[in-house]
Amino acid sequence: MNSLTSDRIRDHATKLGLTHLTESIGPLVDRAEQAQLGYLDFIDLLLGEEVGLREGRRFRNALRLSGLPHHKTLDDFDFAFQPDLDVRKVRDLATLEFARTKSNVVLLGPPGVGKTMIAVALAVAACQAGFSIYFTTLDDLVRKLRAADTTGRFNRQLATYLRPAVLIVDEVGYLPLDRAEANMVFQLVSRRYERGSMIITSNKAFTEWGSVLGDDVLATAILDRLLHHCDVININGPSYRLKDRFNLTTGGETMP
Ligand SMILES: Nc1ncnc2c1ncn2[C@@H]1O[C@H](COP(=O)(O)OP(=O)(O)OP(=O)(O)O)[C@@H](O)[C@H]1O
Ligand SMILES: [Mg+2]
Repeated sequence: MNSLTSDRIRDHATKLGLTHLTESIGPLVDRAEQAQLGYLDFIDLLLGEEVGLREGRRFRNALRLSGLPHHKTLDDFDFAFQPDLDVRKVRDLATLEFARTKSNVVLLGPPGVGKTMIAVALAVAACQAGFSIYFTTLDDLVRKLRAADTTGRFNRQLATYLRPAVLIVDEVGYLPLDRAEANMVFQLVSRRYERGSMIITSNKAFTEWGSVLGDDVLATAILDRLLHHCDVININGPSYRLKDRFNLTTGGETMP
């Protein structure tokens, strides 16, 4: 290929925002020649590389802005450590049907059993599949909504929690809410109802949500919407955080 042509292709590729083609025209042509690609296969290669690069960039950016505490995946999860957890149910959730149908996932269990880790893993999978995601703890969400409310920006702040296709709300139940805060959570849940998915983690059974939310009527209204289309995963095993501290097979503490 003469240099005039490759310069012009590079120029056009830059104008079209085809980064990979701009930077790698030479190696791409070499690959096509070595593999003796036909015209269609070469176009397929060019577009495939470009889309792959763009998708990778979108995924990394989305993860960076998602607020996720880490990016662990289900492959990192040791299912053998939680034998009572239904592996198939979790793997089914990872197919992301819940995100497509705008239904919810609630993960319940005591501290350290992997609720946040599974919520994060589902969120990473959703992000990879192109769903917009956002992670927050309930405490942070309520604090931000309260602060926005005092400056007349409640609706704008609420909108940031309505926008993502999958909103992860972690740690429901650790800090009790007052009535005004529970009302804000109700507004969030009812506005997202059948419009977007939520993944929620909690250390409290649903029967205790009345006291967490400081109001039985609001708690019932929130749960009614949340659970209408919802998969509930109960994890009732040992804490992974304590796995090296305790000898779980004998139940005794290991000697230092
Ligand atoms: N089965 C597991 N396999 C591998 N790592 C795990 C497993 N369960 C938990 N972990 C790890 O243990 C730590 C605690 O898990 P996680 O934060 O998900 O617990 P949690 O149920 O959300 O607890 P809490 O209610 O205290 O927030 C994390 O670092 C997590 O990655
Ligand atoms: Mg957690």
